[in-house]
Amino acid sequence: MNKRDVALNIIGGDAAPKKQKGVGWSPVNIALCKYWGKRDQELNLPLTSSLSVSLDPLGAQTQIEPLSDGADVFVLNGEECAPDSQAALRVSAFLDLFRVDRRLGFRVSSTSDVPVAAGLASSASGFAALSVAIDDLFQLGLDRESLSILARLGSGSASRSLYSGFVEWFAGSRDDGMDSFSRRLDVEWPELCIGLLEISDQPKKISSRDAMASTVATSMLFQAWPQRVNHDLKMIKDGIAARDINEVGVAAEGNALAMHATMIDTRPSVLYWTPDTVRAIHSVWQLRESGVEVYLTMDAGPNVKLICTTQHLAAVKSAFPSVTIVRPFSLNYS
Ligand code: PMV
Repeated sequence: MNKRDVALNIIGGDAAPKKQKGVGWSPVNIALCKYWGKRDQELNLPLTSSLSVSLDPLGAQTQIEPLSDGADVFVLNGEECAPDSQAALRVSAFLDLFRVDRRLGFRVSSTSDVPVAAGLASSASGFAALSVAIDDLFQLGLDRESLSILARLGSGSASRSLYSGFVEWFAGSRDDGMDSFSRRLDVEWPELCIGLLEISDQPKKISSRDAMASTVATSMLFQAWPQRVNHDLKMIKDGIAARDINEVGVAAEGNALAMHATMIDTRPSVLYWTPDTVRAIHSVWQLRESGVEVYLTMDAGPNVKLICTTQHLAAVKSAFPSVTIVRPFSLNYS
């Protein structure tokens, strides 16, 4: 099955815009147990399940309007992207899945609260918000699991951005991916804090899509990755259920470093870290040695995210004065 068949299967073959404008909002998400490696490139089907926490109130706000002249327009953070730019081409390719009438164009306008393409999951919230906006424009009334499947067709990790809180994305086993969607875990953890340390806001040199594909193709360490995920996913879920920051932190930090180990083992090697990334890792470890329960995670970029609870928040903020703290279960900024 190709992407378009999956999308048309969900939205229906005669779907058409029913309003002048559709809107959608979706949160950014950070994986505690990472998605790294696909079993199907076309449908973005993962080899393993993964688990994230959404970073409300950070997210993407998207608006979509039909255009009669056929050409798409993509406006990102107030600036119109060149039609041949990577961002505009990706959005147009996604819109093709919903273009029942080939003459129909769309104007998509999206604002993101995080630097684009810097490993802070801007594409995840972007494709999730766009899926919600399309659902609104076409008045489809889709459930979250269907929206999660649609968002996955734009970017794998987008399947997790349809929910707030902790979210698990099931690998599934079907070839058409209809069992590979995300669901929210029924858990609240008001004391949980995620810290964003912006090391660089420069777009990355190699996309996560390309890095993932070459890791799967050439890294020998990647053979052990599914086993690593099985272990860490269970530990993170147990830790979340017990609100045990040590259990969650040890597993999440180890999982992120293991993912980066598979990237480093890729030929040619993929290394997203800068000297400042390594300095931040050492600072987190030093802080932990001094008794502060803080852990880190990283995605396909140089930035570092911190995981702690309100108990040690003051110490974390004083060690990292530039950190942005998000409290996913309590919308107080601190
Ligand atoms: O959704 P993609 O193709 O950008 O992949 C994202 C992969 C990581 O961010 C590195 C891990 C994850 O689970 O989000």
